[in-house]
Amino acid sequence: MTKTIHAAITGVGHYAPAKVLTNADLEKMVDTSDEWIRTRTGIRERRIAANDEMTSDMGVAAARAALAQAKLDPADVEAIYVATCTPDMIFPSTACLIQAALGAKRAYGFDISSACAGFIMALDTAAAAVESGRVRNALVIGAEKLSVVTDWTSRDTCVLFGDGAGAVVLQPSPRPGLRSSLLGVDGNQAEILYIPAGGCKQPSSEETVRAHRHAIHMSGRETFKIAVNTMQEAAQEAIARAGLTADQIDCMIPHQANYRIVDAVAKRLGPNVMDKVFLNLDRYGNTSAASIPIALSEAVAAGKVKSGDKILMVAFGGGLSWGGAVVEWL
Ligand code: ACO
Repeated sequence: MTKTIHAAITGVGHYAPAKVLTNADLEKMVDTSDEWIRTRTGIRERRIAANDEMTSDMGVAAARAALAQAKLDPADVEAIYVATCTPDMIFPSTACLIQAALGAKRAYGFDISSACAGFIMALDTAAAAVESGRVRNALVIGAEKLSVVTDWTSRDTCVLFGDGAGAVVLQPSPRPGLRSSLLGVDGNQAEILYIPAGGCKQPSSEETVRAHRHAIHMSGRETFKIAVNTMQEAAQEAIARAGLTADQIDCMIPHQANYRIVDAVAKRLGPNVMDKVFLNLDRYGNTSAASIPIALSEAVAAGKVKSGDKILMVAFGGGLSWGGAVVEWL
């Protein structure tokens, strides 16, 4: 289908909590080492939100930065899509809380639960609303307080995750912004990466709390293998749908879970692709739905993205779920 209205990113911003938790700090909490964490994941430190700092607070801060860059008044925002697997509460949605805090009185909004792939899911959904003319703009936010669903006694997972938020503003453009996207899920393998308790299957109880069943459970090795294969396929498909080849991608912003995953995916895409990857996982760890917009925001602030650049985004996470997108920078 030929589009007449395109959805373009007109503003991007991010927020990272002040508290830094280093690998050296983790050495004092569980049986691990800075050397193991760095060589197996590439992570050196991560940010941890304050007790009174919620996912919505971080989302609001990131959204304000993105709106300022887009020169869009919060009162004129028409839609708010929040990708998160750590909402402030089960309902109302984090989007409602962010709408109120921003004073976005004209906006509707809802949350998208798709773990680490959530930002691409939200970007695609928001772009469809903008391209169809239903809304004249949309805020897309990825925000996570993963520190509250981390088992701080499990070295298998607690070294991996961090908190933060990133946001973009989408607006109509005569030029292509989002050139392609694709989304996928496979619920058959839901239990290799999940939070078992807190829903109706295992309601909260003393037992679920004692057994750390409100925390992320992950089969790391299995997740790793599937992540590499799926991200490679999603990236190749997104590039092909954009009518491009891998060598025409100017910047790659992958979900920031593990340096080794990113390196393997980039090498499979082409010989020079790794040189174009923007990485910040060394400073933030895996912030799930927030990781791509935080990285995009930092890449733009660092001058790594210029007008006309084709940016490849690709993510994989719990669900299992994944997404890929190619965005042309305005
Ligand atoms: N410190 C020291 N040793 C550790 C640690 C640690 N923090 N964690 C595990 N080990 C040990 C294991 O116990 C194991 O020991 P053993 O050989 O004696 O049994 C050894 O290190 C190797 O363990 P593996 O799990 O095989 O290590 P691997 O190289 O696979 O790295 C990791 C583990 C980093 C978790 C990796 O598998 C990974 O990154 N997986 C994917 C994570 C991911 O992408 N998640 C997706 C998104 S998350 C979301 O959707 C919310």
